[in-house]
Amino acid sequence: MCGIVAYIGNKEAYPILIKGLQRLEYRGYDSAGVALLKDNHVNLYKKQGKVSDLENYAKQFDTSGKIGIGHTRWATHGLPNDINSHPHTSMDGKIAIIHNGIIENYDSIKEQLISRGYEFKSQTDTEVIVHLIDDILKKEGVDLAEAVRLALMSVIGAYAIVVLSSDYPDQLVCARKSSPLVVGIGQENDFYLASDATPIIEYTKQVVYLNDEEIATVSLKEGLKIINIKNQEKSPYVQELEMQIESLEKGGFEHFMLKEIFEQPRSIRDCFRGRLNSEEGWVQLGGLKDYEQRLIHANRLVMVACGTSWHACQVGEYLIEDLARINVEVEYASEFRYRNPIINENDIVIALTQSGETADTLAAIELAKQKGAKVLGITNVVGSSVSRATHAGSYTHAGPEIGVASTKAFTAQVTVLTLMALRLAHIRGTLSRSEFHQLTAELERIPDKVQRILESNDKIKEIAHIYHQATNALYLGRGSSFPVALEGALKLKEISYIHAEGYPAAEMKHGPIALIDEEMPVFVIATKGTSYEKVVSNIQEVKARKGKIISIVTEGDVQVKELSDHYIEIPETDEHLVPLLATIPLQILSYHIAVMRGCNVDQPRNLAKSVTVE
Ligand code: G6P
Repeated sequence: MCGIVAYIGNKEAYPILIKGLQRLEYRGYDSAGVALLKDNHVNLYKKQGKVSDLENYAKQFDTSGKIGIGHTRWATHGLPNDINSHPHTSMDGKIAIIHNGIIENYDSIKEQLISRGYEFKSQTDTEVIVHLIDDILKKEGVDLAEAVRLALMSVIGAYAIVVLSSDYPDQLVCARKSSPLVVGIGQENDFYLASDATPIIEYTKQVVYLNDEEIATVSLKEGLKIINIKNQEKSPYVQELEMQIESLEKGGFEHFMLKEIFEQPRSIRDCFRGRLNSEEGWVQLGGLKDYEQRLIHANRLVMVACGTSWHACQVGEYLIEDLARINVEVEYASEFRYRNPIINENDIVIALTQSGETADTLAAIELAKQKGAKVLGITNVVGSSVSRATHAGSYTHAGPEIGVASTKAFTAQVTVLTLMALRLAHIRGTLSRSEFHQLTAELERIPDKVQRILESNDKIKEIAHIYHQATNALYLGRGSSFPVALEGALKLKEISYIHAEGYPAAEMKHGPIALIDEEMPVFVIATKGTSYEKVVSNIQEVKARKGKIISIVTEGDVQVKELSDHYIEIPETDEHLVPLLATIPLQILSYHIAVMRGCNVDQPRNLAKSVTVE
């Protein structure tokens, strides 16, 4: 959480910082701030609220300067107010810092600094770093980069920081540990620093992803210099960004979330492009090739993830167990990391994460590695921490997802897991040739079927209108439609703030049935398949209690339609691929309900897209 951006060069820094912060706002939007260096003086502007609030506020001041740092905050320590906003400064105002992460031992450092006469303005953990740097500079007579290094040696926790000092007007010093940081190398001897590449892409494609415990100095005179915390020099590994600038803009849609929902025919196709050919009868995932034998002989696959990615894992469990007959377990990364799990060398751990930066998922990966397991990563973000922390993996190729509520990243994750299940089934021979052909051919047809569902947007909007004032909602599904129900409920609660629960349809009678009355919308995934009749019975149980049924049915369905107050049809498909289709109308429904309730769908309250704190 929190987004950081910085610039040093010959351009005006402020517009670059503001635009960068807007791009990073998905990482937190409790407050925003900038520090700009002008005539050897640090000008500091910070404001509670969104980047636009900062912009309005800063209009009255001088925002010129060719070196600056900016921050958008997701509050952890201290209220989201102006004072706790970053940047934080040293007492003399000469040093300014921005930080993403958590300093776990800030309390004891703060005590020591207070005893040495330091006064704290904010309640943040971050402020200790700037005073510590200041203290070291004054005492040790070292330069800024060395002071940052020494300060970080006393710090326990996670950080991506950028430090600016009026005594070092031609450089910025940055460092990272467990929180991401990218250095963009500009074409005019200038540098861009940011939490991810989105603020950088329009200026340069040459980037360096800092590794954990690396400290970089970007200087107008000396360029980029990287050392590690042990003071060993590191040579920068420059990479070319593949991201396209258009993918960061709304492209005529009212919200990023709607754009991303509508991108799914393309993102799903991009995900399987070059990995699947039903005519020739093959599926491959290049990144996993070297691990295929281990995968098919694994004692079990343990999938770890958080949030929506955890729901994708649950779909993956159904697919891999059913198609490839390999034992799969799904765990919340946050639980896995702290419960001393039994993992051995014959287990393979698969970490799923859209951002590739989720702190709990990264910690789960480290734990699994310590226990001797091979760890594979499935992520959407090239160069992300997870892609580097794992032994091998696959990218989902969904393109940048800006809306905080995940949509296209989820369907891309499910697509990769479907490919994985098919590949493993193929090698293990657990599917007949014709079953394999049918499934792969059907997967190739999924983008067109998603497109057809998108054409129901207006009808779904009408249904959304009927239920947008609900206070509770229940989502039911069986088999792999159960995680779809969980995901449907999560989407609704995240962006519309309606309390919603997903349940396995049969479990409803063990609790949630007590909640059902004529006010309660119950969304049921009731597509054709093995448990169709069972779901019909569950629908009858809801109807008997006067609940409202909104069903997702297969085109041509008769029985469920008759029982439903409203229904949304999706094209017929193989049962294994239903999650890729049934998810779409639920996303659209949540989107419209949230818009009708006046909610900020792209930046729901209290949430952030990239959760880099545990
Ligand atoms: C946050 C986001 C969710 C996301 C979850 C896991 O909670 O708001 O949309 O599913 O983090 O993120 P990851 O990047 O690991 O998939």
